[in-house]
Amino acid sequence: MREILLINASPRPDASVGYELANELIDVVLIRRPDLRVTRRDLGSVALAPLSESYADALTRRTPDTDPVFALSESLIGELERSDALLIATPMHNFTLPAALKLWIDHVVRIGRTFAATPDGKVGLLADRPVYVIVSSGGFHRGARARQPDFLTAYLRHVLSTIGLFDVHFVYLEGLVTGEETVKSECEAARQRLSMEPLFARLASA
Ligand SMILES: Cc1cc2nc3c(=O)[nH]c(=O)nc-3n(C[C@H](O)[C@H](O)[C@H](O)COP(=O)(O)O)c2cc1C
Repeated sequence: MREILLINASPRPDASVGYELANELIDVVLIRRPDLRVTRRDLGSVALAPLSESYADALTRRTPDTDPVFALSESLIGELERSDALLIATPMHNFTLPAALKLWIDHVVRIGRTFAATPDGKVGLLADRPVYVIVSSGGFHRGARARQPDFLTAYLRHVLSTIGLFDVHFVYLEGLVTGEETVKSECEAARQRLSMEPLFARLASA
């Protein structure tokens, strides 16, 4: 493992509980592997350009990958291709993923580039690698306390599998608007859960 891509989708990177936990994870990994390179794609601080008419046209006309219209898309796909693992910190916004993360998806999920259209459906073209997704939400969407649907998990899992990423692990920080105690206990549960993963092995004792 040489490189980790850290993606933040919270519009409040300095206050985000999920992004803070993601940074803690990275710090722990770096203690063991100081040579590891971390690429940060902070979608909350620096918004990606919206999809242009020329990008949408080029996509449907199967324009060559080298066309300048794909410059941003190519650079985002390059970050993905270079990474050996992916860590995504995302809030739940209106039961699904934030628009900033959806825009990233629309730049990296490209026909003929990150997936192939075959008679049997879409087939991913990227090499698989571990993906960890920290989902933070103000309320609850799992178990007895759930009062809302979760349209984030199934969608994100499906779209990542479309480009070849199947080794996806979700960790949830729920009920974050209900108070500091919940924030603490949710983060601790997430740390325990993630410390089972070889990549974050020393997290529980950090
Ligand atoms: C536009 C918007 C929509 C939201 N929609 C939901 C929602 O559907 N369900 C929920 O539980 N929380 C919702 N929240 C609350 C956030 O998910 C919650 O505050 C979360 O902790 C923010 O994550 P962060 O700390 O990483 O920024 C919403 C917040 C915003 C700003």
